[in-house]
Amino acid sequence: MRHWFRTQPRFDRHPDGKKGLLQIYQFSGKAKNDRPRSAYGSAIMTDDVDRNRRHFLAVATAVTGGAGIALAAIPFVASLKPSARAEAQGAPVEVAVGSLEPGEMIRVIWRGRLVFVLRRSEDMLARLPKVTEYLDDPDSLNADQQPDFAVNEYRSRKPEFLVVEGSCTHLGCAPLEQFEVGPAADWFGGFFCPCHGSKFDLAGRVYKGVPAPTNMRVPPYRFIQNDVIMLGAESGAA
Ligand code: FES
Repeated sequence: MRHWFRTQPRFDRHPDGKKGLLQIYQFSGKAKNDRPRSAYGSAIMTDDVDRNRRHFLAVATAVTGGAGIALAAIPFVASLKPSARAEAQGAPVEVAVGSLEPGEMIRVIWRGRLVFVLRRSEDMLARLPKVTEYLDDPDSLNADQQPDFAVNEYRSRKPEFLVVEGSCTHLGCAPLEQFEVGPAADWFGGFFCPCHGSKFDLAGRVYKGVPAPTNMRVPPYRFIQNDVIMLGAESGAA
């Protein structure tokens, strides 16, 4: 037989908000949903109930917080994973050059950078030695501007193909091609930057006395077939 019994009165807040002695009644025995009751008949919080509720709140907070952290971490994890676009931007690019006519140039985007691929004619190649006295670094001594394979008078793997980044080494404008000779006596064809007037020859070598400090950069590349360039992959057969 279960019955209500009276426990020790204690100083606590009454349901009407005032503080004072509170008489607590407790059911004997254990039954589900039994709550200690005050003299007013409303359930009150004993130490046990208080501890259980605190435990519940702590667990709920931890679970909610953990879920929040997990959700917040998803974008970071996702950002660490290389996207297909990033992979495409970083991956080597194949460039078919077989259909290029002598004197013709194509533009390629590799790693978000503009790259010029120019098929130089015999006449263009013959002009290269004529311009060296006007150039700042005709022998490509600045090692930062080209891979070792391009340290030669053509700055390329094969004389007829020039592969350079289409970016002026002053402030990064895209130089314009001006492949004809003259009218200036020192102009044998090359690239002209319209932003501040820097000039480069048909091997991307910078003229003296212009804002651009270095030759145009030669990216890593190799020929994977006689007429196919792999841009961005330097090692392997030339
Ligand atoms: S960016 Fe080309 S000369 Fe300044």
